[in-house]
Amino acid sequence: MKRFTLSAAIVLAAALTGAAAGTPAVLRADKPGAEVSPTMYGIFFEDINFGADGGLYAEMVKNRSFEFPNSLQGWKTAGKVEVRDQDGPFDRNPHYVRLSSSGHREKSTALENEGFFGVSVKADSLYRFSAYMRAPEGAGKIRVELSDPASMDETQALASQTIEVSSRDWQKYTVELRPSRTVSKGVLRIFLVHPDNHFIDVEHVSLFPADTWKGREGGLRRDLAQALYDLNPGVFRFPGGCIVEGTELPDRYQWKNTVGPVENRPINLNRWQSTFLSRFYPDYFQSGGLGFYEYFQLAEDIGAAPLPVLNVGLVCQFQNHDADAHVPVDSLQQYIDDALDLIEFANGGTDTEWGALRASMGHPEPFGLKYLAVGNEQWGPEYVERLAPFVEVLRKQHPEIKIIGTSGPDSEGDKFEYLWPEMRRLKVDLVDEHFYRPESWFLSQGTRYDKYPRKGTKVFAGEYACHGKGKKYNHFYPALLEAAFMTGLERNADVVEMATYAPLFAHVEGWQWRPDMIWFDNLRSMKTSSYYVQQLYGLNAGERVLPLTLDGRPIAGLEGQNGLFASAVSEGQDIIVKVANTSETAQPFSLDIKGLKKKSPLTRLSVTRLTAPGDDAENTLDNPGLIAPVTTTEAVDITGEWSAELPARSFTVYRFSR
Ligand code: AHR
Repeated sequence: MKRFTLSAAIVLAAALTGAAAGTPAVLRADKPGAEVSPTMYGIFFEDINFGADGGLYAEMVKNRSFEFPNSLQGWKTAGKVEVRDQDGPFDRNPHYVRLSSSGHREKSTALENEGFFGVSVKADSLYRFSAYMRAPEGAGKIRVELSDPASMDETQALASQTIEVSSRDWQKYTVELRPSRTVSKGVLRIFLVHPDNHFIDVEHVSLFPADTWKGREGGLRRDLAQALYDLNPGVFRFPGGCIVEGTELPDRYQWKNTVGPVENRPINLNRWQSTFLSRFYPDYFQSGGLGFYEYFQLAEDIGAAPLPVLNVGLVCQFQNHDADAHVPVDSLQQYIDDALDLIEFANGGTDTEWGALRASMGHPEPFGLKYLAVGNEQWGPEYVERLAPFVEVLRKQHPEIKIIGTSGPDSEGDKFEYLWPEMRRLKVDLVDEHFYRPESWFLSQGTRYDKYPRKGTKVFAGEYACHGKGKKYNHFYPALLEAAFMTGLERNADVVEMATYAPLFAHVEGWQWRPDMIWFDNLRSMKTSSYYVQQLYGLNAGERVLPLTLDGRPIAGLEGQNGLFASAVSEGQDIIVKVANTSETAQPFSLDIKGLKKKSPLTRLSVTRLTAPGDDAENTLDNPGLIAPVTTTEAVDITGEWSAELPARSFTVYRFSR
């Protein structure tokens, strides 16, 4: 009896597999459907996991303005170092330090900065040190050193320079340093040179690699920005995430504090400092050095539509349960003004207040802002009643801007069910859905958007990731399920206008949340399987959806489809078919391509495939190339049917050209 049951099961499984394998899927090349929005596949950026300070923003000095609540956090001192807050050069960052002679030749006065998880330098690369200094009593001297405290050499210094401080008034001094060795746990030291002066005042101490993204002084880490560019993203959402909200109103992200000269941008608490006490970073603050100007500039650099998210007058509803912590509904004017002024900052003429500031920062042309999200992951009537006045004012004053509301933190359930109809009632253009969900959820959601109304408010899948078992760096199987799920986004491009995986970056020594798309330490970075999935979509986004069905149904991991998920788009003359085989078996995949003209067959096929040595395989900083897409091309002559073999657990992008 037992034996009979087992063989019956095998026969049934084979029959089901056969249903997927035997019948060709029908692809209607002659029936292009919805347009795929150019914003369809994008990126979400938040300063979480030391993604900005200590990450993309290439500043190497932590607490450079001595403005952390503990003014000398990140610094060690020797001799006479005094923190002062009167008559500094920057009104919003009043603190600076006074280095005074100890009065004794054998006693040094010095400062040492620990950087973000170390001051990490590469041999023979150039680094720019700068500081605002003055010598109130006349000339003085400091020595700047990049040092390796663990060195067994006679000297710990890897590079050093002396600066003559000749000005009685505040002035910016800059020197270049070229370290002799690569060191990951180095420090930056500043010595008062004895006995030339009595004291020197020092403020805004900064160290950047000269080799930044686009060579910009005070710019972004080249490898990390390049990785973003290489995704070919259509949209760039910033600056979060929960940091938009803050735990209390003063901690919320205020974009106006992040524009203008970096030296005068006030710091802000980073709420990820203590969100999880199991991953506690008491030194996590936002310098604002990567601010709204830089975000817009980066969006432009990488060819993505900028999508800022603004506070709606609510603090984080997860973290703060005090109803009075939010802004009263009748006191939202400042928040609404922030939205209006932001539009002016991005798009306004140089004769406007905020447009003039943009121009003074180096970008007289508008940034072409088209999208604005109001509120991050909010819920309940408290959100709806605050969003409503924003919508009213923005519609009147800026009908050209698409407004994005939210469906809350959950992919379904009460909050979600309440908010969607409310968002439709308010007629927002898009609703931001978030889903950090397990493997089973992703496998079951292939047709999620097939069921959505086709008209009105569209979907922005603004934060999502498959949280696979173990939550490693980003192992392969969850990434494969993300690829599978995304075929459903693509098939429903008439409903889904944009989608952004989250979070984007994580420092291996400073993360609070995983999985993440790109991991890095101070000297290296690594692209995960999820990165490559996003990249394959970004590079093969297409322009129009092509109908693709199997036995009349979408290919969405449905019963009898043996774990297959597939979608198709056209791009110019090309046809792009994406197929995820989530099953543990290889299987044939055939297409009956309708509507091809005999005279104009498909003649070239490029096959790009992502597979891995196992479900748990993952790239690491030490082995970053274990998993990466591989492309082959071949000549073909296709006017109708075509078939191929799909490896088990694979994601394949077929691009057919004429
Ligand atoms: O991406 C991490 C966090 O997840 C975001 O800050 C928040 O919006 C969501 O809860």
